[in-house]
Formats: sequence, structure tokens, C-alpha cells
Amino acid sequence: MNYENIYIEEENNIATITINRPKKLNALNKRTIAELHTAFKELDDDGETKVIIITGSGEKAFVAGADISEFAHFSVKEGRQLAAEGQNNLFDFVENLSTPVIAAINGFALGGGLELAMSSHFRIASDNAKMGLPEVSLGVIPGYGGTQRLPQLIGKGRAMEMIMTAGMIDANKALDYGLVNYVVSQEELLPLCLKIASRISNNSSVAIKYAINAVNAGFKYDVNGYASEIDAFGTCFGTEDFKEGTTAFLEKRKADFPGS
Ligand code: COA
Repeated sequence: MNYENIYIEEENNIATITINRPKKLNALNKRTIAELHTAFKELDDDGETKVIIITGSGEKAFVAGADISEFAHFSVKEGRQLAAEGQNNLFDFVENLSTPVIAAINGFALGGGLELAMSSHFRIASDNAKMGLPEVSLGVIPGYGGTQRLPQLIGKGRAMEMIMTAGMIDANKALDYGLVNYVVSQEELLPLCLKIASRISNNSSVAIKYAINAVNAGFKYDVNGYASEIDAFGTCFGTEDFKEGTTAFLEKRKADFPGS
């Protein structure tokens, strides 16, 4: 696929996907969602990429939401389809990806932008970032998982207030709420993400895949998280990474994980 609205940079097994529609504050139109799906899938499948960082181009926005101009005239059926396809192809897809995804929130993360950041495995923000779910100010509700993931991350009462007021919180409030893990200056944002990504990439990518799965299992209504953990824990004992990790520890050397 030829990318028009995103670009990818890769170094030391860490890929950075940048959403690149700065004139539209990186708003997510259909094409961008399709490109992101393909990019996440290809990086997850390539056997090389150990961590993915997702960010927005420019200094103003991570993503200012779904592209309002694309859905303003949608019918009920089209609205439902928009949410279902978006959740399936991007938001749930990212959350359940085997490769860790870090959102580098470099400015406005609104609506679908905050939902994309919340689908990522964790978030780091620059100090100019502003986050919110403004959908009710447009007469609609969050449709890319925001009503589910925001309460999971910051608690029901705070999420209700943010959704009902359609207001924005700044980076420090987001840190206080636990919505982001760190707040740094814009210049420090990608270097910090890369530093953490590098630490992650030294560990077993197979074990990380099972850990993501087990953590996510606890947030699914039809899955028992503890049972999923037991199953995944056992599965790890059959992997080459487990053999290498335990052998390296006993031999007092650094593990060199084969990733299988
Ligand atoms: N969808 C489509 N276009 C968007 C957009 C979105 N979600 N967010 C911003 N844009 C476009 C604007 O229409 C404008 O385009 P134009 O120059 O062709 O008119 C451009 O991006 C710049 O935005 P602008 O509003 O001029 O910037 P600002 O600094 O005055 O305000 C925001 C920034 C983020 C506060 C404002 O753009 C905004 O409220 N965006 C919508 C946020 C939203 O409701 N998202 C949820 C969607 S479900």
C-alpha cells in the first residue's frame, strides 16, 4: 500500500508511525485508518519490529479526532458501520496487537485521537498536550471505544465528567489521572519513547505478546483474565525464549532472545 497520510521510520527494531495530515490536525479520515491498519499489521508481522511508537506530525496535534467532514451527513446505518469498522480495523486491532504500541501524544488528542492513544498499550505526553472526548458537543458519542477505555483508565466518575462536559484536560491533569505515564517537553517526547521502547526490545517479544494478551483478557466481559494468565504462563514454558532467558540467567549472561 502506498501511504499518503502516514510515514514510518524504523531503527534498531523500533518503528515510529507518524500520522501526517498536519493541516487537518492529523484528523483520522477513512484512508488514514486504512493506512494505519496496514502499517500496524505489516510491522506486527515482519518479525523484526519489537516496539511501535505512534505519533502525529507537527507541533500542534497528535490527532484532533475522526474527520468530521467525512461523516457529517451519514445515516444511522452508516454511523454504526463507521464505528464498527473503525473499532475492528484500528482501535481493537491496536489494543490486541502482539507488538507493544506506545502513543507519543504531542498535542491535541481529541475524540478518535484520544481513542487511538487509549488503544495503545501506554501513553506519554508532551507538556502542551490536551486530551478530551468532545463528541457530545457534536451531538454524537465516542464511537471508537472511548466510552469503554476512558473509564478503564481513569475511573468511571472522571470519565463521565470528561465525556459529558466535552472538555479538555491538560497533560498534567492526564498524568494525575493515570491517563499518561509521563509528561515531558516536546523535544524530549520521542527520545523518552525511544528509550523506553529500547528497554522493552531487550526482553522476550514472545513473553510480551502473552503478557499483552493476559492483561487485555481481564478487561473482556467474556474471558476469565486469571485463567488466561495461567494458560499463557504455561505456554511460555514451551518457547525458545523461555529456554534462552532462564539459561542466560543461570549462566550469568545477558539473554539473546530468538523471538520464538
Ligand atoms: N475533523 C476534520 N477537520 C478537522 C478536525 C476534525 N476532527 N479537527 C481539526 N480539523 C481541521 C479544521 O477544520 C481546520 O481545517 P481548515 O483549515 O481547512 O479550516 C484545521 O484542521 C485546523 O483546525 P482549527 O480548528 O482551525 O485549529 P484551532 O487551533 O483553531 O482549533 C481544535 C484546534 C482542535 C480545538 C479544533 O480544530 C477542534 O475543535 N477540532 C475538532 C475536535 C473534535 O471535535 N474532535 C472529535 C471529532 S469526533
